[in-house]
Amino acid sequence: MSKILLGVNIDHVATLRQARYRDNWESSLAEPDPVAASLAAEEAGATSITAHLREDRRHIQERDIQRLRECITTRLNLEMGNCPEIVKIALKVKPDDVCLVPEKRQELTTEGGLDCVSRYDALLPTVTTLRDSGIKVSMFIEPDLAQVAAAARLGAPCVEFHTGAFANAEASGVEAEWDRLVHAARLAHDLNLRVHAGHGINYTNIKRSVRIPYLYELNIGHSIVARSIFVGMKNAVHDMLQLMQEGSEQPL
Ligand code: PXP
Repeated sequence: MSKILLGVNIDHVATLRQARYRDNWESSLAEPDPVAASLAAEEAGATSITAHLREDRRHIQERDIQRLRECITTRLNLEMGNCPEIVKIALKVKPDDVCLVPEKRQELTTEGGLDCVSRYDALLPTVTTLRDSGIKVSMFIEPDLAQVAAAARLGAPCVEFHTGAFANAEASGVEAEWDRLVHAARLAHDLNLRVHAGHGINYTNIKRSVRIPYLYELNIGHSIVARSIFVGMKNAVHDMLQLMQEGSEQPL
């Protein structure tokens, strides 16, 4: 299998649960269960489980994060905005990894990367606190050289590149977006940052996505959860890992 790690984002399993059980998601009837989905993803070879505890709690709940911490056997990657309430929860739950993301109430999903340049002063205490408590912090940023340099100055060991612009580009714009990813990944590597990537990766663009230079980990949610409706979570994760392997083996 591909040496690039696959984190599966299970937020949308909770989205489906909340669609029916928003007011009684703790009921034993509430389904589907994001923890059960995570265990199936792990069984199929996922190397971490990613969950975003949003301030508005639209999908994942604090209890889900606690149960994931207790039940999964791979790494727990908590996606979160830079907000004191969630930082407190992170310090209590102690995920293995935290991915700091921008968060807007109105957005459907995480739109764009964190601005580590203009938000530097606000981010520094959070990155330092999380890192000092033993959590591996990654900054979810656009593939932009100034952002990579700022993430390095913040002392984060990882960056996760927002691949949305690449994934959604019209055919005429794909190469320019790809070049941005390649240059940003090379700079991240030169600055000793581990390279992660995610957003909008699907079963079509995965083979190219795994060719991002120095890529260590991909985080994929929507396309895997969408496919799991038809083929089950284990098959959906297995199919993605298979394509990651095939993409890694293709000559450049
Ligand atoms: N990585 C981060 C930081 C994200 O915010 C998201 C979306 O929640 C993903 C990866 C996964 O994106 P997608 O659901 O488009 O695969």
